[in-house]
Amino acid sequence: MKKCLAIILSVCMTITLTACNGVQSGQSSINSSVAESKPQHTETPSSERSNESSSEQSKSESDNSAPVQANDTDSNILIAYFTWADNTKVDDPSAIDVDASTSASVLVPGNAAKIASWIEKRTGGDLFSIIVDEPYSSDYDECLDRAADEKAANARPTLKTRVEDMEQYDTVFLGFPNWWYTVPMAIHSFLEEYDFSGKTIVPFVTHGTGGLASTIQDIKADLPNSEVLEPIGVYRPEVDSSRPAVEAWLDSLGYTDDKSANSETENNERKLKMTVDGQEIAITLYDTPAANSLYEMLPLDLDFEDFNSVEKIAYLDSPLITEGEPDSFDPDVGDLCYYVPWGNLSIFYKDFRNSNSLVSLGRIDSGMEIILGMTGDFTVTLERAE
Ligand SMILES: Cc1cc2nc3c(=O)[nH]c(=O)nc-3n(C[C@H](O)[C@H](O)[C@H](O)COP(=O)(O)O)c2cc1C
Repeated sequence: MKKCLAIILSVCMTITLTACNGVQSGQSSINSSVAESKPQHTETPSSERSNESSSEQSKSESDNSAPVQANDTDSNILIAYFTWADNTKVDDPSAIDVDASTSASVLVPGNAAKIASWIEKRTGGDLFSIIVDEPYSSDYDECLDRAADEKAANARPTLKTRVEDMEQYDTVFLGFPNWWYTVPMAIHSFLEEYDFSGKTIVPFVTHGTGGLASTIQDIKADLPNSEVLEPIGVYRPEVDSSRPAVEAWLDSLGYTDDKSANSETENNERKLKMTVDGQEIAITLYDTPAANSLYEMLPLDLDFEDFNSVEKIAYLDSPLITEGEPDSFDPDVGDLCYYVPWGNLSIFYKDFRNSNSLVSLGRIDSGMEIILGMTGDFTVTLERAE
């Protein structure tokens, strides 16, 4: 019977949701405060510059084991999210076919986590991963079955992570996938565990072809005394390229980027064009010392290679100026960076930990799918777009 339900769901998702794909924004609000600055992740990041002999040349690890409650910021914004990848165990991540639509999201970071990290970058809020006591199966059908059972029973899965001081937060960004046309039942567990009265809630949803379905109305029922802001919904296959849309949504809610909010004379971002196999990738280059010195070198022909299935890297003939740059950077998918010890550009196509000597240069605005499609080495031309 459950298998039948799963099949029906898949068919419905395919038929119904083709009309709902893409990034959608539009509903509710929020607020609140809390916990740790890094989410709990269940797997060890794979990308380490292991061929480095000098430890000072290796990217440093952030503390992935930090307790979820150990909040070390005074932010009044909490970014709480539930994602399957943090709520399952994958014995052999390398055996997962990331192209298989049914299994992609068991690998960290999950879709909701990716969006959460962009919100963190913009707002400086505290990340909090909602994790159930009893992990879900990493098998899609089994996970579907349990989720269906929990929905049918109106269950409240016990949570193992807890926000220590919810009072701290005025605004709570709340992220989750659409599960069976509604929220994972752990979201109800979370919403019932704290008092959200007077707080602003900002939902962000990732989904298959089913869109937001009844997710927003269902969380609103748990939040009678909160203001729920306009949500954003991001279609699963478009998550990796959705950062500009997420940032536009944040802009629309008033969470503006300090840099872009400044006057144009202070913000000298420039557009670059990267051409590979006749296809164009659009890049915004920031107004920073390292980015400015890269700009002066253009145009450049660059040979990219893969590094640890996380980033594409290309070595520069001469170093960039990095005086005045921060000591470290926490890269996301789509970030263009410079790794000082090796003198290489990096385009991250997977999220990675905060890394020493990594300098942010810019971001991919469009064409990330072209990078993702590059399986071997490739040569690009990088030039000014103006
Ligand atoms: C148990 C389960 C139920 C799902 N139900 C739906 C659904 O009803 N409608 C839909 O559009 N997507 C559904 N999906 C797809 C997820 O919403 C989508 O893959 C999402 O991007 C996953 O986000 P995550 O990586 O943060 O977990 C379901 C996925 C799972 C695992």
